[in-house]
Amino acid sequence: MSNETTPTERQEPAIRVAGVTKAFGDVPVLRGVDLEVAPGSIFALLGSNGAGKTTLIRILATLLKADAGTASVQGHDVATRPDRVRESFSLTGQFAAVDEILTGRENLVLVGRLRHLPDPGRVADDLLARFSLTDAGGRRAATYSGGMRRRLDIAMSLIGDPPVIFLDEPTTGLDPQARIEVWQAVRDLAASGTTVLLTTQYLEEAEELADRIAILHEGRIVVEGTLAELTALLPPAKVEYVEKQPTLEEIFLALVGTTTATAGN
Ligand SMILES: Nc1ncnc2c1ncn2[C@@H]1O[C@H](COP(=O)(O)OP(=O)(O)OP(=O)(O)O)[C@@H](O)[C@H]1O
Ligand SMILES: [Mg+2]
Repeated sequence: MSNETTPTERQEPAIRVAGVTKAFGDVPVLRGVDLEVAPGSIFALLGSNGAGKTTLIRILATLLKADAGTASVQGHDVATRPDRVRESFSLTGQFAAVDEILTGRENLVLVGRLRHLPDPGRVADDLLARFSLTDAGGRRAATYSGGMRRRLDIAMSLIGDPPVIFLDEPTTGLDPQARIEVWQAVRDLAASGTTVLLTTQYLEEAEELADRIAILHEGRIVVEGTLAELTALLPPAKVEYVEKQPTLEEIFLALVGTTTATAGN
């Protein structure tokens, strides 16, 4: 958990979504999504396949227009100020943008050049250090493990120091060790003040990382809060010990699932 603010502290949200709807043809995907993400926090958007997580990220990233509602990043409206929004975030999608022929360092320098940074080499070295890739920096990315590659991908997206980062399923397909490495990188990011909006299908990822968690279901946010607030939604199992509080998975299934998940079974 990072940078938790007290409930009385009211900061301007880094990301604000209000009443956003989106349909593809006559199939509604988002039916009025509302959410706010505090600066420097980690916000996890959970949802089943096809719930609309990527669609919402694409709207925030100005890659897709909402049918209705408003969304802003760092106070800039995605519809009226897409240019300012694009300066405010970076996006790491599920498929890494890493060029395997290049070394890790070359990948970073390349992005730095594309962004017209005055000293891309220094920025590359800083990022390699930040993501524990200094030793591997001179090796071709093709030789990297999945976790190293994903860390490099996140590092590449941070060139230019965007205040907000969207991570769409940052650990899908990674083994547990690689996942832990990426989690640490995400925690470090938030600790340094970056606002993180991530989507995930791994409930333990949300439990591990997120300051706040929202569940997107049938086009709406059906629940949003801290893990403790979500846990309080389901009664703890009657005859069991405190350790047997409902897991996020049980809460998720109780809200979303078709299976008969009940706390305490
Ligand atoms: N460009 C498009 N044209 C038509 N339908 C689309 C388009 N993009 C997304 N959809 C549909 O919108 C719904 C939501 O898709 P989206 O990719 O946002 O879901 P998701 O929550 O990211 O799912 P996943 O967990 O599988 O990544 C799906 O039914 C998908 O088929
Ligand atoms: Mg998706």
